[in-house]
Amino acid sequence: MKILILSRGYKLYSTQSLYFAGQKKGHDIQIIDYLECNIVIEEGKPQVFWRGSPLRQIDAIIPRIGSSQTDYGAAIIRQFEMMGVFSALSAQALLCARSKLWSMQLLSNAEVGIPKTVFTNITQDIQPAIDEVGIPMIIKLLKGTHGLGVILSASRNNAEAVIEAFHRLKERVLLQEFIAESSGKDIRAFVVNGEVVGAMKRIAKAGEFRSNLHRGGHSIHIKLTEKEKETAIRAVNLMGLKVAGVDMLQSERGPLVLEVNPSPGLEGIESTTKVDIAGKIIAFIESSYQPNSKI
Ligand SMILES: Nc1ncnc2c1ncn2[C@@H]1O[C@H](COP(=O)(O)OP(=O)(O)OP(=O)(O)O)[C@@H](O)[C@H]1O
Ligand SMILES: [Mg+2]
Repeated sequence: MKILILSRGYKLYSTQSLYFAGQKKGHDIQIIDYLECNIVIEEGKPQVFWRGSPLRQIDAIIPRIGSSQTDYGAAIIRQFEMMGVFSALSAQALLCARSKLWSMQLLSNAEVGIPKTVFTNITQDIQPAIDEVGIPMIIKLLKGTHGLGVILSASRNNAEAVIEAFHRLKERVLLQEFIAESSGKDIRAFVVNGEVVGAMKRIAKAGEFRSNLHRGGHSIHIKLTEKEKETAIRAVNLMGLKVAGVDMLQSERGPLVLEVNPSPGLEGIESTTKVDIAGKIIAFIESSYQPNSKI
């Protein structure tokens, strides 16, 4: 098959791992920076140009879209979809998973476990929102990542002051129930084509409640319970994802989904579980392959 990996960094571990997994299976596989792609829109003839030339005869794409480039990445994926090219990540699923609000609404509506979460508007009185969530609470920057912008607030006064400060900076935040029993830990389930193919637990360094590896945490290989597996798969299916990393907290009332990552990194999960996740992604693409009727 002719497969394109859409990635900004050909040297990144995940990109390399997918590239070599594809090569090993004998595919014609290429890495392309999606920001170097142009969309050409013409009546009845959708095309993607890369560095000035049209991309033709592509069987499948594996999008690896950074969170700061979600919109452009989704537009490129959508164009490939219109060309009849199979994508391991649909444009719609990418946009859904990248919107914390949209994802939480979908999960809540389907009765998938989530920590109680309040989205606030910058102009409104914050007291009722604080009462709704309770203290201690987690305050999260909507655009945070790697644990940066996740704050544990232990008093009403402090919560109010932090929220006010973010509002002043015009940063949107969400307020979330603090799951005390899972403080300093979370789990990641890696799902490929409706199946959990590997899972790990991330454990924070001493004195830290955020378990991100970037914040000094470490990871161990774990086996999920049936309920955890089912929760991860339901979350992924609701968003229409085929390859995803589901982050969950282990709470007294069962697994609670924090986030579903549509371009999950492979390094942590492959090194922790020793599972060839990239190989599983390539196998999923092979199993989904149907000749493109539009080319
Ligand atoms: N509601 C919560 N209760 C307890 N601990 C939490 C809660 N939310 C987050 N944490 C801890 O803080 C860490 C970081 O939070 P989260 O994963 O939501 O943000 P992030 O890692 O910065 O963002 P992203 O995962 O979107 O890149 C989690 O891994 C978890 O250990
Ligand atoms: Mg996280």
